[in-house]
Amino acid sequence: MNHIAVAIDGPSGAGKSTIARAAAKAMGFVYVDTGAMYRTIGLAVSRRGISIGEPEKVLPMLDENVTIGLAYDDAGVQHVLLNGEDVSSLIRTPEMSMYASFVSAIPEVRAFLLDTQRNLARTTSVIMDGRDIGTVILPDARVKIFLTASTEARAKRRLLELQEKGEDVTYEAVLSDMIQRDKQDSERAAAPLRQAEDAVLVDTSELTLEQSIDAVLQQIRAAVEEER
Ligand code: DC
Repeated sequence: MNHIAVAIDGPSGAGKSTIARAAAKAMGFVYVDTGAMYRTIGLAVSRRGISIGEPEKVLPMLDENVTIGLAYDDAGVQHVLLNGEDVSSLIRTPEMSMYASFVSAIPEVRAFLLDTQRNLARTTSVIMDGRDIGTVILPDARVKIFLTASTEARAKRRLLELQEKGEDVTYEAVLSDMIQRDKQDSERAAAPLRQAEDAVLVDTSELTLEQSIDAVLQQIRAAVEEER
């Protein structure tokens, strides 16, 4: 079989990364989390003391010295490196979610990451998740899935995730961040979040994690069978 690409897009908290990671493991594909790349640029920006809403200060910084690297550990888990430093856990905070959403609306930031993301799918089978994978990054992906869930279901899941990490957050704060981020991500001019015409919609509001993974695997296995 030739290698194939699977694109999974959808709003935050729909379960994209958990489901994509599990599906990639089951299929033996490489999992690429593109949100982590935007979060890493967000971290670099915040470390420079740049505030959300100052896009003009982001551009010179990109050219100067931001190198984003990906590395995979023995368990196949993706780590993201900012100028060589593993920042994988530092980028998983509500503040970095907002910074990521801010920098991801800047066209130059998207252009900066485009080739890296495309190149990752050139030589090996990947499951790549994000907001514009099926529409912009990999428009020829063999399988496209738009993974979504109700805003409330997504906020509840994100709250649990953050609480498990010991973050002190309330449901109301998580819900309001999520509504704001959904709005920013879908209303921005550059590669907004939207379902590709040829993507299959999977709504996980009423599904368990196992059922969601199965729904995604079903699509991928059907495509792999056809490729044989
Ligand atoms: O999936 P995530 O929550 O880690 O993504 C963080 C932010 O990055 C999200 O608000 C939107 C942006 N993003 C994007 O614009 N395009 C992608 N392919 C992935 C993420």
